Amino acid sequence: MDKQSLRHVAIIMDGNGRWAQARGLTRLAGHRQGAAAVRKIVTHCREAGLRHLTLYAFSIENWARPAFEVKGLMELLAEFLLEQEERLGRHRIELSAIGDISRLPARARELLDRVVNATRSLGGMRLTLALSYSGRDEIVRAARRLARRVAEGTLRPNDIDEQIFEDSLDARGTPPADLVIRTGSERRLSNFLLWQAAYAELYFTDQPWPEFSPEDFDRAVAWYHGRKRTFGLVEAMG
Ligand code: IPE
Ligand code: IPE
Ligand code: MG
Repeated sequence: MDKQSLRHVAIIMDGNGRWAQARGLTRLAGHRQGAAAVRKIVTHCREAGLRHLTLYAFSIENWARPAFEVKGLMELLAEFLLEQEERLGRHRIELSAIGDISRLPARARELLDRVVNATRSLGGMRLTLALSYSGRDEIVRAARRLARRVAEGTLRPNDIDEQIFEDSLDARGTPPADLVIRTGSERRLSNFLLWQAAYAELYFTDQPWPEFSPEDFDRAVAWYHGRKRTFGLVEAMG
């Protein structure tokens, strides 16, 4: 993955429910199949040499779904974390999380802490799970952190710049998203990485997440390499 640099791919994993319903299955069966797709894509990205992969697994807005679906998703998360601890270590994948983690049930939170600590600084690839995440909430919490420092007298308002702001976000230490992929046919961001995706290339596919394969991932990356990223400048004259 060189050519045009591609450091950070972020995926909005959408369409689990519709995939299941079209097959007469429950929405939770769709989420279970979605977790299987996660395992495949993570392995594939690691093998391809990607450095940063962020997966939108659960939004703050998703808390308002029916209680049994939320409960099922939290159980799937715990199951995933339990099973991944050894595997991530073996592949030198470090896990991190962004979002309001304090809202997760105790068991999921404990497992998350455990796997994050066990895989810290492994360096091969950083896998970031966006859990109980919303881009606006992340920005508001960053503002709150900075306001606290100003109130304590350790930061002056005029010293706040983009870098300092970015360093206060949950996702600090991860470069901006280069490519955002959304599966499941909707063409919107749904509150994902509002700050970090400022100049991301956006790739939408109708394929529902449970069917998204490593080959589909490669297609998105090939599309990305065909883009001209100008970042507000003019194209170089040929
Ligand atoms: C994405 O699939 C997974 C989560 C939001 C947790 P959905 O559950 O949104 O599936 P659709 O969009 O209803 O098909
Ligand atoms: C976005 O999907 C959140 C995740 C993929 C986790 P949603 O299905 O929740 O978003 P909307 O409702 O299509 O905007
Ligand atoms: Mg959806």
